[in-house]
Amino acid sequence: MPEELYLQLLKRALTDTLYGEAPDHEDPDVARFIGGFLRHYIHGRAHTMLPMARLDNIQDCVTRALDDGVPGDLMETGSWRGGATIFMRGILKVRGVTDRRVWVADSFQGLPEPDAEKYPLEATAHKSKTMVEQYRHFAVSLDEVRRNFETYGLLDDQVEFLEGWFEDTLPEAPVEKLAVLRLDGDYYESTRTALVNLYPKLSPGGFVIVDDYGEDQWTYCRRAVDEFRAESGIEDELQQVDSKCFFWRRGT
Ligand SMILES: C[S@@+](CC[C@H](N)C(=O)[O-])C[C@H]1O[C@@H](n2cnc3c(N)ncnc32)[C@H](O)[C@@H]1O
Repeated sequence: MPEELYLQLLKRALTDTLYGEAPDHEDPDVARFIGGFLRHYIHGRAHTMLPMARLDNIQDCVTRALDDGVPGDLMETGSWRGGATIFMRGILKVRGVTDRRVWVADSFQGLPEPDAEKYPLEATAHKSKTMVEQYRHFAVSLDEVRRNFETYGLLDDQVEFLEGWFEDTLPEAPVEKLAVLRLDGDYYESTRTALVNLYPKLSPGGFVIVDDYGEDQWTYCRRAVDEFRAESGIEDELQQVDSKCFFWRRGT
């Protein structure tokens, strides 16, 4: 019970919903959602842009992996201000787990420029006024993310940062085994690079969470996942968290 109380409070702090509400990620009024997104996340204090349902999903996946003794670390590719990984570290801390690490992989300089011929939707979104002037391609420095971990007393040697483009960092990453892999790099190439390099390290019984699988207005994330699953013969059931986020549990 105290564990649960801590995690509930941590989620409310990370989403900055202790004293107000986050915008409704399922709002059918897109303009209203973007206005709320800018206010609450981009110009606000929240340390993650995930809605509560996706933090609940992280908690559920990590808890099941720990309870079932699935070997390996926890990782997110695409961290922005670090909130989802801070939450992962918080779960390990409150459960007294000292032999697993949390990996935080990001360029810490925002999204890479997509190839306009191969990924026209992404290239258009990447150049849009809102993306350039307001989101600033989600660039957050490593120093800022470290400070955010420190804010919660959760920066220690169980947290590992992989700074750079996934294409450069993930193939050589000193990650041995993973129990939970969360993909939040938005674009096709970022998603594919993470899957190709990290899925082989995911233990049987481990979880893959794809933040943008259901988002097809501005990314080809779903295509990257579908192609990878087909090529690798993965038939584990894709389960839905909300309209955008999906996950599966690795069978073998
Ligand atoms: C939508 S944000 C992640 C949101 C975050 N998970 C949260 O909890 O708020 C996407 C992140 O992916 C990173 N990113 C995307 N593609 C990348 C790549 N190829 N290499 C490195 N970082 C990448 C961006 O820098 C950005 O921080």
